[in-house]
Amino acid sequence: MLFINLIQGNLFTSYIGREMEFFSFTNSTNEDVWEYVKENVSPGFVVITDNQKQGKGRRGNKWHSEPGKSLTFSLLLKPSIKMEKLGLIPLIVGVSVVEGINSFTKLKGSLKWPNDILINDKKVGGILCEHKIIQNKSHIVLGIGLNVNETELSVDISDKATSLCLEAGHPIQREPLLAEILNQFEKNIEAPSATWVSKWESYCTHLNEPIIFHSSNEIISGTFVGLSETGQANMRIDNREKVFSSGVIELQ
Ligand code: BTN
Repeated sequence: MLFINLIQGNLFTSYIGREMEFFSFTNSTNEDVWEYVKENVSPGFVVITDNQKQGKGRRGNKWHSEPGKSLTFSLLLKPSIKMEKLGLIPLIVGVSVVEGINSFTKLKGSLKWPNDILINDKKVGGILCEHKIIQNKSHIVLGIGLNVNETELSVDISDKATSLCLEAGHPIQREPLLAEILNQFEKNIEAPSATWVSKWESYCTHLNEPIIFHSSNEIISGTFVGLSETGQANMRIDNREKVFSSGVIELQ
């Protein structure tokens, strides 16, 4: 069970999370928010669940959340920034999740491009950003999955994934943690987008580090040298800079 009043009682936002719907179970909170868009809900609207049964991950993957243990929620935005800057929005969500974790716990979160949330180089959360233009206006649903109180992770992912509880050594109360993430998000999204790239880079775990990059049809070794102005990955490969808009980074 998650208590909405305990989330909203810890919010300092003006619109993010001020309207919120809780479902004890659902298929996908991203899908739920798209349904609410038909009822013209306001930007900042959040759907949260304690048991997501058919969670969607990036690149067509499934996202598994342990019932009663994780933070599994989606947030609606109707941003008016330029189209080419829309790719920065999921990145600033990643920054906000890390800042929420760092401020509410003693842990130190970091980011792996484009928006994996890591603790001690293991994945603790991810972000799925979906975009539609409805009546000439951009609508973005930002879905966030964060492993919080899981004490066991399935064997196939346990060497690459973790939870906040496993890293901190004690359970973490989910409602105030979510409120802190939303507080950080509203502060960040209202700041000029020109500040987002350097903020993201300050939490990046592989900035100027050698990495292996899995792009659509090749595996490349190089150095991640930062983000482009629109959130793409700048890589140095054989002393030449190349820009990638999608792919998976493997830490070395
Ligand atoms: C990833 O693959 O790293 C992104 C995972 C995003 C999962 C979240 S959980 C809440 C929201 N609802 C979904 O169906 N997916 C996102």
